[in-house]
Amino acid sequence: MEIITTVKNMQTLSGKLHKNRYIGFVPTMGFLHRGHLSLVDRARSMSDIVVVSIFVNPKQFGPSEDIKTYPRDFEHDRRLLEEVECDILFYPDVGDFYPQGYSTNVEVEGFDTTLCGARRHGHMRGVATVCMKLFNIVRPQLAVFGEKDYQQVIMIKKMVSDTNLDIEIVTSPTVREDDGLAVSSRNIYLNNRERKDAAVLYQALLFGKKLIEEGENDAYKVVKAIQNMIEKKTTARIEYIEVVDSQNLKLVERIEGPVLLALAVYFGRTRLIDSIVVIPERFQRR
Ligand code: PAJ
Repeated sequence: MEIITTVKNMQTLSGKLHKNRYIGFVPTMGFLHRGHLSLVDRARSMSDIVVVSIFVNPKQFGPSEDIKTYPRDFEHDRRLLEEVECDILFYPDVGDFYPQGYSTNVEVEGFDTTLCGARRHGHMRGVATVCMKLFNIVRPQLAVFGEKDYQQVIMIKKMVSDTNLDIEIVTSPTVREDDGLAVSSRNIYLNNRERKDAAVLYQALLFGKKLIEEGENDAYKVVKAIQNMIEKKTTARIEYIEVVDSQNLKLVERIEGPVLLALAVYFGRTRLIDSIVVIPERFQRR
């Protein structure tokens, strides 16, 4: 695996490779786990060259958020990537990526009114900006994102389509622990009790899904049922539970087609997100 640490060197290399190789790209913020590696596998199965980036992007963290304490372990990441036969690891530093005087941001309209976009001010813009820059530097033909961050991948698809980037965006399913908890870099912050409690998130989402599949059309009732289950089983603090249209992420009152059930919940100081798509049988095309 080749490790590239400057924007210039990455751009020179990808400029050459891009001409006759299909580059599959997986952007990450490091502290890699099975979820990230599943995206690398997916990229490998669909391309000639796999590039993974590790960059903890300051632009997507709010002023009160955890960039300083965001977990990092480069040696561990490097080893894992060698094992899954990643070809190129792009590992730039912040000063090179956003030089002094940097002033351009990418904003995909309408992503700051629901889900994480509505709560983490500037977050979606920070993600769009870093991905646009990474796409320009790495020049992939394909990029893989996790369904775990559902709003993120929908926004990136919109950005790519609106700006005519010639990149196929692939969505890969959420990798979970045995008890259903979505694998996440942030799970290491949970103490034993919180870790046990956190399994409620997926159970509650599945419960919401079941209600919809059994005929419940009222989004408020589904939200309440999910909320009750989390509150009954844990002392976690709910940031949001929302039912949105799974295509445009607009809030839904009556469930009349495919929806996303999504939530963000604090266990102690650790914020976890999870979501599932529900396509009730009564709305499936025959
Ligand atoms: P990060 O949180 O490191 O995640 C990198 C990629 O891994 C994202 O596409 C995310 O959806 C995916 N991922 C995380 N946990 C997963 C899981 N349990 N199963 C499947 N995929 C999972 O998301 C980011 O970084 C950043 O916002 C980034 C896109 C790199 C831009 O800075």
